[in-house]
Amino acid sequence: VRKIFLTRHGESQYNQKGLIGGNSSLSERGEKYARALPGALLERLSVDTQDEPLSVAVWTSTLKRTIETARSLPFPKLRWKALDEINAGICDGMTYEGIADKYPDEAAARKRDKLRYRYPAGESYMDVIQRVEPVIIELERERETVVVVAHQAVLRAVYAYFMNVPPEDIPRLAMPLHTLIELTPMPDGTMGEQRFPVD
Ligand code: F6P
Repeated sequence: VRKIFLTRHGESQYNQKGLIGGNSSLSERGEKYARALPGALLERLSVDTQDEPLSVAVWTSTLKRTIETARSLPFPKLRWKALDEINAGICDGMTYEGIADKYPDEAAARKRDKLRYRYPAGESYMDVIQRVEPVIIELERERETVVVVAHQAVLRAVYAYFMNVPPEDIPRLAMPLHTLIELTPMPDGTMGEQRFPVD
């Protein structure tokens, strides 16, 4: 792979209401991000296009909010189930306060060990880290620039792999909305990182 761009989907209707999981569409603000993303990306891509033709692929999850965010990107797209957001099981569609209210023991257990905590009937960060492995193998193989449009927990796992983040730190990595993260392979084998807020 040459460069990897990572971005969460634009703000969703669930994000707006503070609900986790689900499969909602973008909010008004999220749509605005989806419209601004092609320009922001093309500006960054133009830095690398001297004489070589630009070869870019866009990978999304199978959820509406990433597909809608990627819609206006003028590149071939691939949908990965392995990029879907962490499955919150019985807590899907709830707010964090609602979870603390209805399932206080679950909320406490997650706070104690967010990396290993598995939502009942759902996933843990450890599960997600394992699940994205095939995506990472393909990313390593890929010769073109890849733009990954995915979700908070899943992107923490992908980012951590390339930036050598220790597992214990993964669940609390900053992965804000409406930000384009550019990872550039360096001569020493590590990745350089730049972040671009898009508004
Ligand atoms: O709130 C958006 C979201 O993508 C949820 O769907 C998901 O459960 C959550 O973020 C993951 O972040 P955290 O592990 O910090 O709760």
